[in-house]
Order: sequence, then structure tokens, then C-alpha cells
Amino acid sequence: MSNSTNNSITIDGREIPFEEGQTIMDAARAADIYIPHLCHRPGLKPHGSCKLCTVDVNGRAASSCTLPAANGQEIANNTPELKEVRKNITQMLFVEGNHFCPSCEKTGDCTLQAVAYHLDMLDGHFPQFYPKRKVDASHKSIFLDRDRCILCELCVRASREVDGKDVFAITGRGMDAHLIVNSESGKLGDSDISTDDLAAQICPVGAIMIKEHGYEVPIGRRTFDLHSIAEPGLEPVILRKGKHADE
Ligand code: SF4
Ligand code: FES
Repeated sequence: MSNSTNNSITIDGREIPFEEGQTIMDAARAADIYIPHLCHRPGLKPHGSCKLCTVDVNGRAASSCTLPAANGQEIANNTPELKEVRKNITQMLFVEGNHFCPSCEKTGDCTLQAVAYHLDMLDGHFPQFYPKRKVDASHKSIFLDRDRCILCELCVRASREVDGKDVFAITGRGMDAHLIVNSESGKLGDSDISTDDLAAQICPVGAIMIKEHGYEVPIGRRTFDLHSIAEPGLEPVILRKGKHADE
């Protein structure tokens, strides 16, 4: 019979403790085990959409950011098969948008790019979609490039759960799914988002960007130039936009 003081799960042969209510992702993070993820951030409700955090739990695939840890679970996180699945998901995200890193200010600070490096992704593999979605540059300090949006809903949840503003939403299904702004005109400039909002800072890619702050950190000194995404404790650094790991 389990009790809350000695609950444990095993990830890749390593037994780690967990507390009641923690997901597998929570327990792994607390033990400094990296499970690749894009739509998850500690402190926001898990969303379970990107599927990058898929692990094998007692032989069955499951999303580690939404599945509660349960005593005795045997979990595989680091297998060639999982790496291949995660790489395919990442490749699909790249070809669905216009992720042309050499011309994107987020390069070196981008979680999608860092995950791709982590998974040894050398190309997009699938045919490129070249979408033409609308850029919204109507806000005086923030712009939105939907061609780089991976629909992770981090901005949606940050705005709703932390900023208390509900500025963003996703609408449409499948290939038509896209990010909208909840203002009368549908423009960012008519919303009450500000640069201090978590929603303005949390985007893991170069879709929501602060204007007039391009290339302040030189290439070579950016977060993922200096650190692997799998490094323990790195993620809170990403949330503090403008602060870099070597500051
Ligand atoms: S704009 Fe950024 S944070 Fe918002 S859904 Fe798209 S990728 Fe995620
Ligand atoms: S991080 Fe778990 S589904 Fe995206």
C-alpha cells in the first residue's frame, strides 16, 4: 500500500520520489531529469497538446505533463524510439510554420530550436508548408508573427491565469488553427497587453516579440549558445526575458 512519504517512480532505471498530486513531469523536474517539452511551463495549467513529453509508462505511451505520477510506475524517457517520435513532432512543427532561424531574432533563445538541437534534428524531413499568416504589428511595443506560432497556448494561459487579461485564444481546427487576439478589432494594439505581462514574455519561439529590442545579446552569448536545454534549472531563466544565463 502506498503512502505519501515514500511514493516513488522509476525513470530510465533511476528511482525518484514524488509528492501526491505531482505529474510525471513535475517529479522528473524536481529530480533534475529533463523530459523534452514545449507546451508546458511550471505554474501554468498543463495543456497536453505538443506531445513532445511523451514517455513510456509501464509499456504504454503517455504525456508526462498531464499524467499523475503513481507509485511503482516504470517509465522510459530516453530511448531511441522516443527520440525519433519527438524528432518527427519537432520536424512537423518546423515545416508547418516559417521557422527560418537565420533571420529570426529569437535564435539562440528559442525553445523550439533548442529542442531540435537536443534531438539532433538536421533537417525538416517533411515538405515545407510556407504558410502566409498575418503579422500583427499594431501594438506600440509588441508584435505577433503568426508564421512562427506553434500553438502551444502558453500565451493564452499566461494571459488568463497570471495576467488576468485573457488577451489571446486559439481558433479554428487542424491546419486552420491559429492564434487570435481578444480585442474588438482583433488587433494587439487594441488589447490591454503590456510588455510586463507574462503573456508578452513567455512565447517559446519568435512569435510574440518585444519591439525595439533586437539583437541586444550577441550571437554566441544567447541562452542556448551557452547551455543545453536539458540543463537542470534552465527554464526559469527562459521566463526571465532579458536576463541571460551568463548575467
Ligand atoms: S504566440 Fe507563442 S506562446 Fe502563443 S501560442 Fe503561439 S507559440 Fe505559443
Ligand atoms: S509538454 Fe506535454 S504535451 Fe506538451
